[in-house]
Amino acid sequence: FNKVPVFKVAAKAAKRSFSSTAAINTAKVAVLGAAGGIGQPLSLLLKHNELISNLSLFDIVNTPGVAADLSHISTHSKVTGYLPDNDGLQHAVSDASIIVIPAGVPRKPGMTRDDLFNTNAGIVKELATAAAKYAPKAFLAVISNPVNSTVPIVSEIFKKYGAYDPKRIFGVTTLDIVRAARFVSEIRGTNPKHEKVTVVGGHSGVTIIPLLSQLNANFTDEETKALTHRIQFGGDEVVKAKAGTGSATLSMAYAAAKFTDSLLRALVIGETGIIEPTYVKSNLFASKGIEYFASNVEINSDGVKQIFPLGRISSYEEQLVEAALPDLKMSIEKGIKFVKEIK
Ligand code: NAI
Repeated sequence: FNKVPVFKVAAKAAKRSFSSTAAINTAKVAVLGAAGGIGQPLSLLLKHNELISNLSLFDIVNTPGVAADLSHISTHSKVTGYLPDNDGLQHAVSDASIIVIPAGVPRKPGMTRDDLFNTNAGIVKELATAAAKYAPKAFLAVISNPVNSTVPIVSEIFKKYGAYDPKRIFGVTTLDIVRAARFVSEIRGTNPKHEKVTVVGGHSGVTIIPLLSQLNANFTDEETKALTHRIQFGGDEVVKAKAGTGSATLSMAYAAAKFTDSLLRALVIGETGIIEPTYVKSNLFASKGIEYFASNVEINSDGVKQIFPLGRISSYEEQLVEAALPDLKMSIEKGIKFVKEIK
């Protein structure tokens, strides 16, 4: 994560581009699932982003209202709401530089993210198809769970349409990093903004692997285990507290807005040195048959520029990685198989 607050950087950069060029360097961003628990606060945060010229909101319900409401905010982007009728999805994604996908059902208490597969795989497939057809060059930021499977689904759909570029498809794992920073800071008594925890693997349960040893925090083994467990299952705290009404939405919207801002800074103003943790097509564990993996990734205007290896990790973390691999492999294969079986 960058040290400077993201929105300030974006605003500063946008001002720079306003004054230095006649054409304003801004982009169209589409949010698919924009009327939902994540979609609405995410769209609100994106309305504040000066690098966005057009904020395009698609959902199967309520987007005209959400768009009308947001359009009264005194920031420069134009907000448009689309529903499925009148080719709404096509219009929503056409010319978008970034497509963020938080569409789909969230968990209820007792559910794993994989339990959402049957419903969300179809939704993600449909949205990815529109993206591949009408915005094949866009950056895709996939939030819909199970992310470990939905990113392979989006990738397979893009392959079907001959539009696949692994550099442009991202699974959003930012919330794991946001949570890790917060939970670590609570123990260390530090400002969470200054805590940078590398979290690798995937985005569900044991596939979420925080590399706490790299913090040099001198945590005891007990503290490390407890913290690791809390970061892996932090989402369950929210699902339980919301008691059947959903999963993380506000912290997720914050995380997704942060991630989208990084994509925008790379894409729209060509900022360099942007490093984000994200779940992407990766060679890190390809030798073990794992095609996708989350780790720190450098992003530039073409998308993924460089995937960083895990670096030095403890033997406990090595065990966590080993434990995650079968789960990841299964989720990836499930996503790929889902698309291959579509007639
Ligand atoms: P929600 O149910 O509040 O909102 C989902 C929205 O998607 C609804 O407005 C719904 O109408 C819309 N939708 C359904 N089918 C659609 C379609 N075919 N096209 C467009 N929109 C469609 O759910 P919430 O809480 O916003 O969560 C959304 C997804 O994000 C879930 O899958 C959840 O598991 C996931 N999530 C991911 C996280 C991550 O870290 N990547 C963290 C938290 C949630």
